[in-house]
Formats: sequence, C-alpha cells, structure tokens
Amino acid sequence: MSDTIKRTAVVTGGNRGLGAASAKALLAAGHNVVAIYIGRVDDAHAFKKETGIDVYKCDVSHFAECREVFGAIEKKYGTIDILVNNAGITRDSFLHKMEHKQWEDVITVNLNSQFNTTRQVINGMRERKWGRIINISSINGQKGQFGQTNYSAAKAGIIGFTKALAQEGANKGVTANVICPGYIMTEMTGAMQPEILEAIRQGIPMGHLGEPNDIGDMVAYLASDKAKFITGATFSINGGQHMA
Ligand code: CAA
Repeated sequence: MSDTIKRTAVVTGGNRGLGAASAKALLAAGHNVVAIYIGRVDDAHAFKKETGIDVYKCDVSHFAECREVFGAIEKKYGTIDILVNNAGITRDSFLHKMEHKQWEDVITVNLNSQFNTTRQVINGMRERKWGRIINISSINGQKGQFGQTNYSAAKAGIIGFTKALAQEGANKGVTANVICPGYIMTEMTGAMQPEILEAIRQGIPMGHLGEPNDIGDMVAYLASDKAKFITGATFSINGGQHMA
C-alpha cells in the first residue's frame, strides 16, 4: 500500500476499460474501491469476483438514482473521498447526419453525469477538508474530432467544469483535475471502423495506441496525497498525438 491513509474511491464505468484500470490502480494503492456500472450485471459480478472491487449499478445520467446509490455507498463505507468520473459513451456521426437522440445521449451521459455524481460527494469532501475529483475527458475534447461534435462538446465541457470546481475546492482540500486520454485500446476504440482507427494510429508519434494502465496509473497518482498541490490541471496522455 503506497498511501498511508485508506480512503474510499468511486469510479463510474468502473468495471471496464479505463475505469477498470483506474479502479484496479486505486485498489493497489490500498483504497476501498467501488465500481459503478450500468448494464451487463453478469460482467460486473464477474469483475467483482476477479478483483474484489465492490460494484453498484447506477445510471449516472439520472440525478435521483445517483443520490440513492451514492447514499448507499456512503452508508456502507462511511465516506466517499475519491471520485473518478469516467463513464462515457460515443454516438459518432457527422453533424449533418446526427439524430437529436445521438446528441442528447452523449451530452447526458458524458457531461450531465458530472453534476449528478459530483454533487453527491462534494459537501462531504468540503466538510472533511479532503477530496479528489478526477474527471476523464478526451483528446477529442481538446482538439475536436470529425464525427464527434457531440462527444467533443461534452468532453470539452468536462474541462470547464473541472477548472471551475478546482477553484471552488482549492481552499477546502478538494482537488479537481482532468485527464485527457488519447486513443487507448478499449472496447470504445475497438468499435471504430478499422481503417479510420488505423489512420488515427498513423498520426500518433509513438506509433501505437495507449493501454488502459497508462490512464489508471495517473488516476492513482492524482488520488494520492503526493498530488496535493495539483488542481485544475489537464493531463494529456496520448502518445504525442496532440500537445496541448
Ligand atoms: N476529417 C474530416 N473528414 C474526414 C476525415 C477527417 N480526418 N476522414 C474522412 N473524412 C471524410 C471523407 O472525406 C468522407 O467525406 P465525403 O463524404 O465528402 O466523401 C467522409 O469522411 C466519409 O464518411 P463515411 O462514409 O465514413 O461516413 P460515415 O457516416 O459512415 O462515418 C463516422 C462517419 C462514423 C463519424 C466515421 O467517420 C468515424 O468513425 N469517425 C471517427 C470518429 C472517432 O474518432 N471516434 C473516436 C471513438 S473512440 C473515442 O472517442 C475515445 C476517445 O476519447 C479518443
């Protein structure tokens, strides 16, 4: 255990991809970890059995559901000290072909969820004068991406949300930071048209996609006491694809 104090962390979208890597890294740092999932109950329970990470079902796009589930987590663990807002979806389409639902779904799940989850934990963190909010944005929120006006808008919104929150929490021991992953080997990038993904890969100076641990390790660092002077920062982890 690298941290001296065992804390409780909640990771949304925590049983797959970047969320799972983050949850495992936080567990390895010695924390209690809860992974929030939405679908695939069997997968979530298999993840719990394999890792020992607790799982709770919650739709992060619903405020009332978040209130209930985060309340239950707090009741079980006493506090929520670390929140990783990772849950996100893509509904890629050019804007001239995009349906309203594709826009709405991405903004609701990726951006509105920031409020729905963070609002449940922020008061406790401020009262205890210690908290870590780590938000997963994207390279595509920094630079925009063809086929992703919805996703790029939501992910850029996350950066603004985090910078504002960082200012509010700075004198209360609550830090808020953003990680902008580039293209990482997950189900999300695996679902892309192979030729488009290959063209993107060729634009990455390191010549390959990242691994989920590249993000998970940074999450664990930002959650630690060592990162106490870091707030409102945006970390690009993208193999050099975009140097913001
Ligand atoms: N910029 C702009 N236009 C481009 C382009 C580029 N880099 N590459 C291709 N195009 C254009 C082509 O010129 C062509 O234009 P015309 O129609 O005028 O000839 C057009 O795109 C080809 O369109 P398609 O027929 O392929 O369109 P489609 O509707 O079938 O597919 C799409 C559109 C689904 C958005 C597809 O382009 C796509 O998957 N794009 C990639 C989106 C992307 O990067 N998603 C990332 C997912 S992973 C993720 O989001 C994680 C993260 O945080 C990084």
